Amino acid sequence: MADPTVEQLEARVRARPLPRHVAIIMDGNGRWAETRGLPRVAGHREGSEAVRAVTRTARRVGLEALTLYAFSAENWARPDEEVGALMQLLADYLESERAEMMQNGIRLNAIGELDRLPGFVRERLDAARAETAGNDRMVLTLALSYGGRQELVHAARAAAAARGPALDADDLEAALWTRGLPELDLLVRTSGERRISNFLLWQCAYAELYFSEVLWPDFRDAALLEAIASFQARERRFGLTGAQVARPERG
Ligand code: IPE
Ligand code: IPE
Ligand code: MG
Repeated sequence: MADPTVEQLEARVRARPLPRHVAIIMDGNGRWAETRGLPRVAGHREGSEAVRAVTRTARRVGLEALTLYAFSAENWARPDEEVGALMQLLADYLESERAEMMQNGIRLNAIGELDRLPGFVRERLDAARAETAGNDRMVLTLALSYGGRQELVHAARAAAAARGPALDADDLEAALWTRGLPELDLLVRTSGERRISNFLLWQCAYAELYFSEVLWPDFRDAALLEAIASFQARERRFGLTGAQVARPERG
């Protein structure tokens, strides 16, 4: 049988319950460029095109929340030239996407140690977050200078200051940078790597994991739809038995 077209795939995905919150570890930009004999930054540039395409598709099918790992706390240790190029691309992206976010009802959000970002990025991020604050069709969260362990330390300190040693899981959850977002349903990583790389450690507890061989710059609407279709074919059990999940009324 021929592979389904993007339209068929999209119709199939729309006919079943969608994940509310999808997060993506956007990996493989460097390898995409290196296999073409290009500098790594060319891969990052093409990667920002994939961000645009995937955001548009996510919004069109009706995801509530899309979270993109754009720059990790550990990525600061890359060569200065690459970090500088990534910061410039990020600033350009924030400037060029504001109009489309407004047109599509997308609210921009950011998580991570945002005060480590250079001023020119921070200013554009703050402007885009302020401008889109009233939008409610989809929340697009960029993880920038983000680390899951760093988030947990921050949250533990904040929750302990507020609640003392009696703090519980709800207190910790309420102190996470992701507070207010829906539960994470699906975590996607591109480029064939099978690791979490310090992303959303708490939030991954019951997320479905999906690993794609596609390098991030080549990841477009069909690839996202395939990831969602894979999620829709799974049974999530949350510790229960298969029978309990299939017939929840019988306990
Ligand atoms: C992901 O692509 C983008 C960032 C981490 C900023 P990489 O730059 O990690 O690409 P590879 O893994 O070297 O191919
Ligand atoms: C994870 O990718 C971070 C982002 C995608 C932003 P990395 O390329 O930095 O992860 P490792 O080093 O392969 O674990
Ligand atoms: Mg990588």
